[in-house]
Amino acid sequence: MPTKLTLNGRAVTLDVDPDMPLLWAIRDHANLTGTKFGCGVAQCGACTVHIDGAAARACATPVAAVEGKAVTTIEGLKGKAAQAVQAAWQKLDVVQCGYCQSGQIMSAAALLATNKKPSDADIDAAMAGNLCRCATYVRIRAAIHDAAKTMGA
Ligand code: FES
Ligand code: FES
Repeated sequence: MPTKLTLNGRAVTLDVDPDMPLLWAIRDHANLTGTKFGCGVAQCGACTVHIDGAAARACATPVAAVEGKAVTTIEGLKGKAAQAVQAAWQKLDVVQCGYCQSGQIMSAAALLATNKKPSDADIDAAMAGNLCRCATYVRIRAAIHDAAKTMGA
């Protein structure tokens, strides 16, 4: 049975197996390839999207679970927190190879949407599930603080 949802602000119907991981539906059926496959078992964060505004692992979410919900991928990320995060990422040159970064940005934007001034501990807790093989963690944390400052300005 097809699944109806809002994807990056547009109403879409995904005519796929409802048990298919959302990650594959996004990448292979909606052709949005900014969301990455890392581990496939909810351990790395590369596949992070927003479901009704909250960060979620697309590899561990069956398509049926997003029926009627709003899914946002890196391609559709908008709003004040998203803009501040993207600007801070550029300013602080966070990215190394880039593979993990769409997931990192999705988690950071979800954090700042609910916590305007996160502490180091808040950031570490919110970002703990997003792994980076290039170890950009120090710059990620600095960029989230920078984005928070921009949002408060
Ligand atoms: S690919 Fe989903 S958490 Fe690693
Ligand atoms: S920037 Fe290379 S894995 Fe994170």
